[in-house]
Amino acid sequence: MREQYRSAGLAEEELAAGPMEQFDRWFRDAVRSGVYEPNAMVVSTADADGRPSSRTVLLKEYGPRGFVFYTNYRSRKGRELAANPRLSLLFPWHPIARQVIVSGTAQRVARAETAAYFRERPRGSQLGAWASEQSSKIASRAELERLYADVELRHPPGEEIPAPPEWGGFLVVPQSAEFWQGRENRLHDRLRYEAQDGGWRVDRLCP
Ligand SMILES: Cc1cc2nc3c(=O)[nH]c(=O)nc-3n(C[C@H](O)[C@H](O)[C@H](O)COP(=O)(O)O)c2cc1C
Repeated sequence: MREQYRSAGLAEEELAAGPMEQFDRWFRDAVRSGVYEPNAMVVSTADADGRPSSRTVLLKEYGPRGFVFYTNYRSRKGRELAANPRLSLLFPWHPIARQVIVSGTAQRVARAETAAYFRERPRGSQLGAWASEQSSKIASRAELERLYADVELRHPPGEEIPAPPEWGGFLVVPQSAEFWQGRENRLHDRLRYEAQDGGWRVDRLCP
């Protein structure tokens, strides 16, 4: 698969009109090729002083409006995005010699959208979201398990568990998106969309 994509490359003529359609094509290729967790992406944010931080997060939805992931709004990334909504997403699809890098801004999704997604999650994940103040310090593993057990007691099996108020989705609206295809002799293809005048401009970058 990797060799097939490397020899085929990525040409301007075959690019979709916009980055979300192009992402859809490549995401489907990644799924078809058996890339492990193709929806795992590296989300990079920066604090008010410009200090960067990165972590892996699962992409839960994508479409014409952008990319959606879920997290705790009070986590490090959540706080950083509140101060500075600019972020970058990176999809490392190594087995097919591809990577996609998106730069854009994040905004919270509507509460009803978060609630609908949270309802579909397994009960254990729902309880975990209530039990964990993501990114804050905790004295021990035992303390974390105690918090989980407390939450479990408060929500008998069968009872619907609402989404924690500080937990929810972010929609990432892309400003630019680079599609990187590994090729022979380091002559990789790099085509980058950039938002311009309500449309998209595409440039080829040196590898
Ligand atoms: C494969 C994988 C998937 C993950 N998915 C999520 C996710 O969807 N949402 C999330 O908040 N954290 C997810 N995490 C955990 C984050 O990497 C990170 O530890 C957590 O969000 C806290 O990050 P922060 O302190 O920088 O805000 C995932 C980790 C891995 C390795």
